[in-house]
Amino acid sequence: MIKVRVPAKVNVQLGVGGLRADGFHDLANVFFAVALGDEVTAEPGEGVTLTCSGPDAASVPLDDSNLAARAARLLAAHHGFTPNVRLHIAKAIPVAGGMAGGSADGAAALVACDALWGLDTPFETLLELAAELGSDVPFALVGGVALGRGRGEILQPLPVSGAFHWVFAVADGGLSTPAVFRECDRLREEAGTGSSEADVPTPDADPALLAALADGDPVALAAALTNDLQAPAISLRPALADTLRAGTEAGAIGALVSGSGPTCAFLAKDAEAAAAIAKSLEASGTCRAAHATYGPVPGARVH
Ligand code: C5P
Repeated sequence: MIKVRVPAKVNVQLGVGGLRADGFHDLANVFFAVALGDEVTAEPGEGVTLTCSGPDAASVPLDDSNLAARAARLLAAHHGFTPNVRLHIAKAIPVAGGMAGGSADGAAALVACDALWGLDTPFETLLELAAELGSDVPFALVGGVALGRGRGEILQPLPVSGAFHWVFAVADGGLSTPAVFRECDRLREEAGTGSSEADVPTPDADPALLAALADGDPVALAAALTNDLQAPAISLRPALADTLRAGTEAGAIGALVSGSGPTCAFLAKDAEAAAAIAKSLEASGTCRAAHATYGPVPGARVH
């Protein structure tokens, strides 16, 4: 049996450009991998079968839409054989939460099946297969901190010093990523700025944010956190503003919606502060659960 651990992500910068002809948006997407993660196991089976455990297992689709199952089929097809594997996901990453949990499972299944089937697929090829599965899947293979360009799949690892301490406040129910991107476009149209590639300048990584990461400076990183999907996520789920406020009142030095939400991410000055913020958030009644964690951590790895 092969076991793979894979991290969730938070976007410390999510700059969203205009809507492209292919339905995606060009991004300046600074991914940050955190220790809150899933574990995917692969063992010999008949066909591709999938099970899931964990508190939110009931909301994970176990059919062929699951990225772990799709990853197994895609890898086997690339090598020209019919896949036989039994996959299991031990789920800790919030489902439809803006932390790329489904993408993480896709990346982990690529790594797990590659090891189970003894394929030794070059990492560059795994990255290409990952990009076919979804915009956030390549980053779950790479981990650490990286700038994602294009639709987020063209990655450049970024230098980072030390560890940063985070708290994630999990909401009841998920948000659909396409719906949040559509709301971003709608708000831009409503504001009169337009939402197409011609209207919206191509976003770029913020030099102050890159310096904060390289310096290992949580206060500077907190000041530089931005997410263009935050306003659309709050527009669809106004209660997220209360969660963000509760975390800030509890002592977080930075707060933002994680990716397309609804999970909210809080930066703490150290591990002790993170534990205290998580406790306050759970008592605040503005989230279902809160988890203290840290990063950056590596991408999907056999362990
Ligand atoms: O790549 P992935 O399948 O994860 O993307 C899901 C959806 O999110 C896309 O169909 C699109 O609606 C939206 N998206 C986008 N721009 C991106 C990434 C995703 O509009 N860069």
